[in-house]
Amino acid sequence: MSHGKNIIYYKTDYEIGLMKQAAVMVSKTLTEVAKILKPGITTLDIDKLCNTFIRDNKGIPSFYKYRGYPHNICASVNDVVVHGFPNNAPLQSGDIVSIDIGIILNGWHGDHAYSFVIGETTPEIIKLVNITKESLYKGIEKAIVNNRIGDIAFAIQEHTEFKNKYGVVRELVGHGLGKSLHEDPQMPNFGKRGSGTKLKENLVLAIEPMINLGTKNVFTDKDGWTVRTDDGKPSVHFEHDVCVKRNKALILSDYSIIEAAEQANPNLTPSIVIPF
Ligand code: MF3
Ligand code: CO
Repeated sequence: MSHGKNIIYYKTDYEIGLMKQAAVMVSKTLTEVAKILKPGITTLDIDKLCNTFIRDNKGIPSFYKYRGYPHNICASVNDVVVHGFPNNAPLQSGDIVSIDIGIILNGWHGDHAYSFVIGETTPEIIKLVNITKESLYKGIEKAIVNNRIGDIAFAIQEHTEFKNKYGVVRELVGHGLGKSLHEDPQMPNFGKRGSGTKLKENLVLAIEPMINLGTKNVFTDKDGWTVRTDDGKPSVHFEHDVCVKRNKALILSDYSIIEAAEQANPNLTPSIVIPF
């Protein structure tokens, strides 16, 4: 998506604290999702649960009506890369479902995503999920002062495309995050080391690798939103809200609570936990 006028908003430490609260509310919502996922549940059920949880906690689901988006969350199953509409189809064992949630809390945005595997799946899919998650952390490791956007982008692309022959989506990118859902700079998952905007302290980025088992090529459905792989093969999406710091990035979102719920749910195949 485009973000307008190339203004980068660096946050104060106080604002980073507020953004952390928004990000953690997204993580808590994803944790509620992780608790109830099982074969037979629909993504519309999940949308409803998220909307209730977010509003009960005084947040606003930010995707609803964003550029006309008609639901509260994105739920992208299998060959759907991102921006899938919640629907009435029961999830089945073997499905990969990426749940992407945005929340405005006290005027600040949290926005992240987690891919879950329902029931049992193949080693090929488990590897795709784990490598995608790992690539997100390889990117985050580069989110430090004086590095550049291209250093993060390259780290993600190297791990997924160059080392594991997966398809890195070109049409969609991560983004700055703050008072708006999409701020500058754009955060692609492919690129050259040493290129792009130089990172300064307290830039907040939504880093979100969208990685395909097969071709990198995607298309958008007639609904104008749903992005699918050209070859119908599955795609995985993980997203973290990350604050650039001097020596080590600060991850504002909290996967640990999602992962604990995922591991406790016998209806899911959990992905690897990456220490950071
Ligand atoms: N995480 C996605 C993004 O940052 C979700 C946006 S969905 C939309 O682009 F409905 F808000 F567009
Ligand atoms: Co995002």
